[in-house]
Amino acid sequence: MSKLWGGRFTKQTNQLVEEYTASIGFDQELAEEDVQGSLAHVTMLGKCGIIPEEDVETIKEGLHKVLGKLRRGEVEYSVGDEDIHMNIERMLIEEVGSVGGKLHTGRSRNDQVATDMHLYLRRRTVEFVDMLTKLQEALLQQARTHLDTILPGYTHLQRAQPISFAHHMMAYVSMFQRDIERLQDSVKRINRLPLGAGALAGTTFPIDRHFVAEQLGFDEVYENSLDAVSDRDFIVEFLSAASLIMMHLSRLSEELIMWSSTEFNFVELDDAFCTGSSIMPQKKNPDVPELVRGKTGRVYGHLIGLLTLLKSLPLAYNKDMQEDKEGMFDTVKTLQGALQLFAPMISTMKVNGERMRQAVNQDFSNATDIADYLVNKGLPFRQAHEVIGKTVLYCIQQQKYLLDLNLDEFKQFSKLFEDDIYAVLQPEQVVNARNVYGGTAKPQVAKAIERAQDQLEGT
Ligand code: ARG
Repeated sequence: MSKLWGGRFTKQTNQLVEEYTASIGFDQELAEEDVQGSLAHVTMLGKCGIIPEEDVETIKEGLHKVLGKLRRGEVEYSVGDEDIHMNIERMLIEEVGSVGGKLHTGRSRNDQVATDMHLYLRRRTVEFVDMLTKLQEALLQQARTHLDTILPGYTHLQRAQPISFAHHMMAYVSMFQRDIERLQDSVKRINRLPLGAGALAGTTFPIDRHFVAEQLGFDEVYENSLDAVSDRDFIVEFLSAASLIMMHLSRLSEELIMWSSTEFNFVELDDAFCTGSSIMPQKKNPDVPELVRGKTGRVYGHLIGLLTLLKSLPLAYNKDMQEDKEGMFDTVKTLQGALQLFAPMISTMKVNGERMRQAVNQDFSNATDIADYLVNKGLPFRQAHEVIGKTVLYCIQQQKYLLDLNLDEFKQFSKLFEDDIYAVLQPEQVVNARNVYGGTAKPQVAKAIERAQDQLEGT
């Protein structure tokens, strides 16, 4: 088969070279966007009088036919045509004849591929915002149900202070909110049109880039033609936002895995989201969060891969840049897979409030509160800390918890203790005492839920 660019060549391409340089195996993912970009481009060529309107109509009809075939899976891609752009151009020419060859007027694959990827990521970014919103809704639902469920909060994975399960869920709502904001912010830079930059320097034809931008729904056009074809920042930004999303999902996964263990037994994931063991009949494994945790690594890898790919590239386009795609597609797939499962897995998760409560009753996570109690009675905090440290040590030696001590035992450590200490030590009291903005007290968490709800309704 002769090449679309074959004029200057006297020999056939080595077959291994053809296979090595082709990207059609993966960039066919951009087929829709490629046609979308071409339709806008050819419309502009007609409007600017660069090609006759009747040719524009023929090309548009041809492109629609090709698109139909693409959607129905009726096309066969050829490695000889290297990439999606030349495959589609060839299909167009087969459909409408040599007039199809006018489509590429005033355009290069360099500005074409950049345009395709902007269109592709814009669509995905909007979808991911939507999926993150659904996950936030699932977390919010759990938070609403568990405003009064108390569990130990941890630092260093050691019991620290009790918190409400709602507060814990809302921490993730906040993280995913930042992820949403990051994606939305990145749209400002994704939504910029490279087309019209030509190969690198612009074009000799009197094109109208702003008209193309408007048709494709871009807010701006790239200012500089060299930058337009060389820029892959928007993909780096996407991969970095995706890495953070995966990191948040992975942290939540880790907690779900721990909480599902017999040792914690804080939650139970629905059977539909777990798998069994081929040998141990009793097993119910949290495979989904485990895989999400595992797949986080490949997304980080794609981010570092792309940054490394770009770091020494001279302007403008280099073939190296073809390597920007597989990591991006894989990231999109990985993120879709994880987010799609996470929302229903969270909403069907059973929370074992009793077991959480039992854990809180059997720890020293109310120790800070007795220190605060002594501070309220006038003792400097540092001294109060020391007193309570000794009290806890005594409890450990006596195999007791703080609430098991009688007043005489308390008084051994400080004369300031009175009967009112017992109310201070109750888990509800400990949680609800943290009544500062952003704290775990019930009224604060209820307000946080309300704010998140309002935000969701605004997205
Ligand atoms: N398949 C190429 C890529 O993805 C398209 C751009 C090719 N441009 C070129 N000058 N060879 O990067």
